[in-house]
Amino acid sequence: MNQTVYPVSAEWRQRAYVDAEAYARLYAQSLSDPEGFWREQAQRLDWIRPFTQVKDTSFDEADFGIRWFADGSLNIAANCLDRHLETQGDVPAILWAGDDPAESRTITYRELHAEVCRFANVLKAKGVRRGDRVTIYMPMIPEAAMAMLACARIGAIHSVVFAGFSPESLAGRVTDCDSSVIITADEGLRGGRKIPLKANVDEALGHCTACATVIVVRRTGGPVTMVPGRDHWYHELRESVPADCPAVEMGAEDPLFILYTSGSTGKPKGVLHTTGGYLLWAALTHHVVFDYKPGEIYWCAADIGWVTGHSYIVYGPLANGATTVMFEGVPTYPDFSRFWQVVDQFGVNIFYTAPTAIRALMREGDEWVRKASRSSLRLLGSVGEPINPEAWEWYYSVVGERRCPIMDTWWQTETGGHMITPLPGAIPLKPGSASRPFFGVQPQVVDPEGRVLEGAVEGNLVIADSWPGQMRTVWGDHERFFQTYFSTYPGKYFTGDGCRRDADGDYWITGRVDDVINVSGHRMGTAEVESALVAHAKVAEAAVVGMPHDIKGQGIYAYVTLNANEEGDDALRAELVRWVRHEIGPIATPDVIQFAPALPKTRSGKIMRRILRKIAEDAVDQLGDISTLADPGVVDHLVANRHRAI
Ligand code: WT7
Repeated sequence: MNQTVYPVSAEWRQRAYVDAEAYARLYAQSLSDPEGFWREQAQRLDWIRPFTQVKDTSFDEADFGIRWFADGSLNIAANCLDRHLETQGDVPAILWAGDDPAESRTITYRELHAEVCRFANVLKAKGVRRGDRVTIYMPMIPEAAMAMLACARIGAIHSVVFAGFSPESLAGRVTDCDSSVIITADEGLRGGRKIPLKANVDEALGHCTACATVIVVRRTGGPVTMVPGRDHWYHELRESVPADCPAVEMGAEDPLFILYTSGSTGKPKGVLHTTGGYLLWAALTHHVVFDYKPGEIYWCAADIGWVTGHSYIVYGPLANGATTVMFEGVPTYPDFSRFWQVVDQFGVNIFYTAPTAIRALMREGDEWVRKASRSSLRLLGSVGEPINPEAWEWYYSVVGERRCPIMDTWWQTETGGHMITPLPGAIPLKPGSASRPFFGVQPQVVDPEGRVLEGAVEGNLVIADSWPGQMRTVWGDHERFFQTYFSTYPGKYFTGDGCRRDADGDYWITGRVDDVINVSGHRMGTAEVESALVAHAKVAEAAVVGMPHDIKGQGIYAYVTLNANEEGDDALRAELVRWVRHEIGPIATPDVIQFAPALPKTRSGKIMRRILRKIAEDAVDQLGDISTLADPGVVDHLVANRHRAI
């Protein structure tokens, strides 16, 4: 294969914190002497009680446990705010760009600190105590970050639920972690359209009894119904609380947040991250991978509803005293130039987005990019899904004008932060490759039996040992945590991803090998979409698989068997699409619904997804052996009625 390689430029070798020699040395030390390495790295945080223990971890069933810096204590909000006040109180912490280009806000570290203290006091006044769960269902406004930091300041555990999720999904997450408070806004604003967040909360609370208090931030001034005793305006509550709020001392292993994510089976899992290791991981990766230098303007265009927003809009950048841009809108509104207009507006130096956005903009042509100068840009990032070399080259040459290296960062909600990624001053770039492991990360490629494969190979990606940013448990289900990640390949963390390692030792992520699909960089469990479909009165059975999609990376292909006497027509298709959007949210919208009189099953009744995937990919010449099916005739009908290219 003729592989393009972009070597590290002389300029980047000079300016970066980590060059090739330093990467080799530090990476080797992080594996040979993890205690020494992490003891030193952890000095970038302000500890209240310094730790004496560093790494106390085991992936083995007998003594399974993950603890880092366990006897140390610190407060995350103090690390992200208070310690920066003296030297850079007047530096912008958040630059906010509204959905409407005419709206923007600048919030300095001093202002952010003051508002987080207020918010924390509001939570305390509403009875929130250390360890209590607070659900945050918010648009991309600074108050969302303030709410997260307010929880961290008083030791409450936040659970941010993406504002695109339905009331049903919200209710499930509020109930699962038993939140006593929901923080929301009257409405969200995206692409000129309003999202009725408070009304969604009202509907969600119709489904569950867990939550006693709703705090509503005013964003649009749109109409809302306030339930007396339960619902309160934030701007009113904040008038009645003191301005000052001490940051509580938290143990390094005390929980910081829960974030729900989809798996291959069952309901979404509450991924739990703790305090010391998580913050260190978010801060160190932000510093080294983006080579953030004081005074630079950094923009991660994700949503705080996903882990990318937690680690790389809020915690990592603020722990480093960076200026972080927060964007309320979408890349295509008011036109396809919006990203680049915001880059010019704030003079953004570092820009981090997902391949799906790059592909969507690439399709619209280069003029939209060229309309803006982008002269401030010096580094680009990609996250969420594999980036195809064509999109990579466009991002590199058109957006970055061949002067900005691209960090293709592979990681997961579970990993807390970057795991496999180039470093701008150290590692040559190959379009489509996430390249090399970050410090302390030990990737291995294994075959289905768990044998470790050496050299240039393809297989399943596992991580052989713990790193500080790792999730610690599934909220309320520690057994599920162990089973999901550590039982497939005993003694190792299984990522759920497949990968290839080339002869240079660079890693290429090939995508999920489990029943998780990645739609526009958002994780979706096929089981969740199936259970939404079968909850419809006319549906008997459903099987959902991923299909290739030009913009989204993967689309959702659903095979649906109807109850006897039901007719599968376009009207029912549209109804089922509406139904799934209502049950889960727009991100779960099926791209294709194929009505099927029956699904291909083994004689023991197991659905053969391999076959369904091939049909959805339109690779019907690769169905493989179908003789083990209970009724091989089913396949002919599916093939004849398959849906081709969208
Ligand atoms: C899954 C994790 C990482 C934060 C946002 C998504 C895929 C993520 C890459 C990348 C190839 C990637 C993997 C992973 N993924 N980044 N750079 N190259 N694949 O977090 O929702 O937990 O999804 O996203 O399949 O397992 P997530």
